[in-house]
Amino acid sequence: MSTEPASPPIPNADVSVPRHLGIIMDGNGRWAQNRGLPRLAGHRAGVDNIKRILEACVQSGVQVLSIYAFSTENWRRPVEEVQGLMRLLGLTIQRQLNELNRNGVRIVHSGRLEGIDPHLQRQVLRALEVTRNNSRIVLNVAFNYGGRAEILDAMRRIMREGVAPEALTEEMLSRHLYVAELPDPDLIIRTGGEWRLSNFLLWQAAYAEYYQTPCFWPDFDEAELAKALAAYAARQRRFGGVPAATNPQATPVAHA
Ligand code: FPP
Repeated sequence: MSTEPASPPIPNADVSVPRHLGIIMDGNGRWAQNRGLPRLAGHRAGVDNIKRILEACVQSGVQVLSIYAFSTENWRRPVEEVQGLMRLLGLTIQRQLNELNRNGVRIVHSGRLEGIDPHLQRQVLRALEVTRNNSRIVLNVAFNYGGRAEILDAMRRIMREGVAPEALTEEMLSRHLYVAELPDPDLIIRTGGEWRLSNFLLWQAAYAEYYQTPCFWPDFDEAELAKALAAYAARQRRFGGVPAATNPQATPVAHA
């Protein structure tokens, strides 16, 4: 959630590296089960891995990392797991905020704060406030997030502003998303072997490249990230157009 006005997109220095990377961190439960551990131990290992991949992203030139930490559908999980994930977010903020701040990480939140414990809400808002001027990398934490809910919330805000249907534009909808100033994701990685988008960044990922790996999230290390980035660098992004070689008259498409 952000109350910040939209600011110009961050310039993209190197199109061979995703400016904005989104990660669906799947496989924590299976990682834990394979070790005879409770599922929450997998989520704890998953949190530890965020730190390692965040730093690797900085080193690789990624400017925005979006992580899917808790979806609007995750409320359907057993109550102990839901409570465990909530506690984990609170503990992570408590233990990691200072270090993240020292490392120049700007934390933003995508999702609904309503429905979350008020103390946790305050912790989240404090993390946003403390890190708001940092610029080394943006960490967009999708927590209590759903892509459809985000589009719905954006539409509700637009309608409350009294915008006429004919005046509605894609750009206007983008500006009303939870964190409006972020560029669209260039690459979405899903760990854990599934091929689903699971309601993650539905609007923003319209032209994102997709990469999936069977590797469980806690095992997804710097080498796995390097493989994903290499696969991305080898893709040809056309944004609905045709390759320049096929259509020499085409002006180069902007890298979204
Ligand atoms: C999917 O694994 C992962 C999640 C539902 C949440 C990911 C959450 C974390 C990495 C930790 C939470 C982060 C914060 C900041 C609190 P899964 O449980 O679906 O794994 P499975 O498919 O093997 O069962």
